[in-house]
Amino acid sequence: MANATQDLNRPNPDDFNPSEPAASQGWNQRYKDQDTGWDLGQPSPVLAAFLPEYLKQHNFLVRSPNASSKAAVVGCGRGHDARFIAKLGIETVGFDFAPLAIKEARELAARSQLTEKQLRFEQMDIFAVAPQWQGQFDLIIEHTCFCAINPEQRPDYVESMRSLLKPEGILVGVFFTHNRPGGPPFGTNETAVLDVFSPRFKRESWQLSDHSIGRRKGDEHVGVFRAIA
Ligand SMILES: C[S@@+](CC[C@H](N)C(=O)[O-])C[C@H]1O[C@@H](n2cnc3c(N)ncnc32)[C@H](O)[C@@H]1O
Repeated sequence: MANATQDLNRPNPDDFNPSEPAASQGWNQRYKDQDTGWDLGQPSPVLAAFLPEYLKQHNFLVRSPNASSKAAVVGCGRGHDARFIAKLGIETVGFDFAPLAIKEARELAARSQLTEKQLRFEQMDIFAVAPQWQGQFDLIIEHTCFCAINPEQRPDYVESMRSLLKPEGILVGVFFTHNRPGGPPFGTNETAVLDVFSPRFKRESWQLSDHSIGRRKGDEHVGVFRAIA
């Protein structure tokens, strides 16, 4: 398996064009080849540092077991972030369009103590949100999905995220704010993120994280966005 810190900074692989409908095959092939250097094998340290306190302060963790908050993790890969969030007590669904990512995420989840109600994984293209998932979530967690899609698709991404959320739902994202050309991972910056989110979301906060690994240091911002009802 490639080194995580090296691979995330790698230029476009020839075998993958994110603007083509066959993009899921390109990503799936990466899982097949174990060419998944972005995979930290653990939850994002940035999210692990930020989320517990944020969720506590904003009352995401205080609901009853029969009516817990619901979170979606988009482009969830093998589901390390999703498992982390589910363990915090939030009913979590991880979405990815690569079938192998979903298969492996389910296998890893099966080894956790979590039930299917607490954590499940579904194969879905985030640009084609199935009706059953529309308006279902209090929270979306974004980590290395926004940077994986073609920048031209970002307005559609924002529409999809809005469609997954309940009115005034929250998106917490780790945004990869590098300024190297090309991608994936495609870089971004505060202005570009704000521009693309502002038609459908209000920004609540934006901060550089101190918890990035190795070469991501200085290039990861946590953004919190509230859906405009
Ligand atoms: C760089 S990987 C990150 C995976 C995971 N978040 C992690 O950090 O390990 C990007 C993930 O997004 C998924 N993805 C890309 N475009 C997608 C789309 N349109 N719909 C659903 N998943 C997508 C890929 O299959 C891949 O698993």
